[in-house]
Amino acid sequence: MPQVPTFSTSRQEIAGVSVKQLATQFGTPTYVYDAATIVQRIQDLAAFDVIRYAQKACSNLAILKLVRENNVVVDAVSAWEIRRALAAGYEVHGDPPPIVYTADIFDREALELCIEHGLHVNCGSPDMIRQLGEVAPGREITLRINPGFGHGHSQKTNTGGQQSKHGIWHEQLNECLLLADANGLQITGLHMHIGSGTDLHHLSQVCDSMEKAALEVGRSIKTISAGGGLPVPYNSEQTYVDLEKYFELWDATRKTLEKSFDHSISLEIEPGRYLSAEAGYLVTEIRAVKQMGDNLFYVADAGFNNLARPIMYGAYHPISVARKDGQEMGQEHDVIVGGPLCESGDIFTQEEGGFVSARKLPPAAVGDLLVIECAGAYGYCMSSNYNSKPLAAEVMIEEGKARVIRRRQTFEGFIADEMI
Ligand code: LLP
Repeated sequence: MPQVPTFSTSRQEIAGVSVKQLATQFGTPTYVYDAATIVQRIQDLAAFDVIRYAQKACSNLAILKLVRENNVVVDAVSAWEIRRALAAGYEVHGDPPPIVYTADIFDREALELCIEHGLHVNCGSPDMIRQLGEVAPGREITLRINPGFGHGHSQKTNTGGQQSKHGIWHEQLNECLLLADANGLQITGLHMHIGSGTDLHHLSQVCDSMEKAALEVGRSIKTISAGGGLPVPYNSEQTYVDLEKYFELWDATRKTLEKSFDHSISLEIEPGRYLSAEAGYLVTEIRAVKQMGDNLFYVADAGFNNLARPIMYGAYHPISVARKDGQEMGQEHDVIVGGPLCESGDIFTQEEGGFVSARKLPPAAVGDLLVIECAGAYGYCMSSNYNSKPLAAEVMIEEGKARVIRRRQTFEGFIADEMI
């Protein structure tokens, strides 16, 4: 299990490249990813037979290529995530399937792509089984099961239980087996992802449910997937999950099933955040320093159009200051950090429910840079053009060299699909 990092409120470099140089060369706001951190996080999970990256966390083609080259297969939740995986060089066939489509529905394009390329489908609803069976009988499929309970870092990231639309309700498993039979589909695996932010207590419940469900399906099961949800610490009070214990729990489930079925079972894990969160930094420039009554604000050029996690979940992100003059940082003081959007919720230092909170940060002036850290998962990929702000640039640092992996959006590109 990795060591929880100490988060500092000042930072001059990212992966060996100066923050000031990054801002000068690539402009702000810019997402910067440290490739070595992603590779390290992949290595942490080596005990699992298959690591399947949940690309929804950060799906830039260069990131997908990096994980592919490190023997990580990929999950796709939409037609265009399938197309991204293909564009990043993933094959369509293989064991384990290089690309798996996991969703609760097929939109028409996704169904067409799955048929056209013969992709493996992880069905999250009885309707998906029906729709696939109608056009492609004889396929192997896996089922995403909702075990009837879930857990998440926020109610919005809890994907289990009857409040959730995700997966096949555990009590409908038998019905789905009959449905698969009737449509000539074979169920070769089960998958459970109960939410983002797993802990070991919930996990042992999931393992029990997996065991029960797999025994109900029977010997056709060849794979079980633990889903994603591995947490990362966003501040020094949070921790990683004990990866050894996490693996042990799943491995015990796998072994029980192997004994019952008398054949080997492959154990998959499907992390998004764990691979990319800590690798990503959002570099932004302070454009105003404002005193509003008792409150001091740093107003930067990145907003919730670039990083939506604080406004969506009250998520905490470490923030550090890089001084443009490289001078020593002074005594920290309470600051609220906001962005440029014409909306009062555009605050990075807020708690769930929208309550603004102050953060101890060093004194800073217009032109100094802020680095919003642990932003590599659900950062860029949840960004928007709200207030007609361009999508940020993305940069990857490998072996001390920074290169653009996505140009900042241009105005011409932004309006290209509009018609007067
Ligand atoms: N597998 C499935 C089926 C999922 O639905 C998800 C996440 C994952 C894997 C990856 O979960 P992770 O390892 O990244 O926790 N936007 C939220 C997170 C939403 C997660 C949705 N599903 C956030 O910013 O925290």
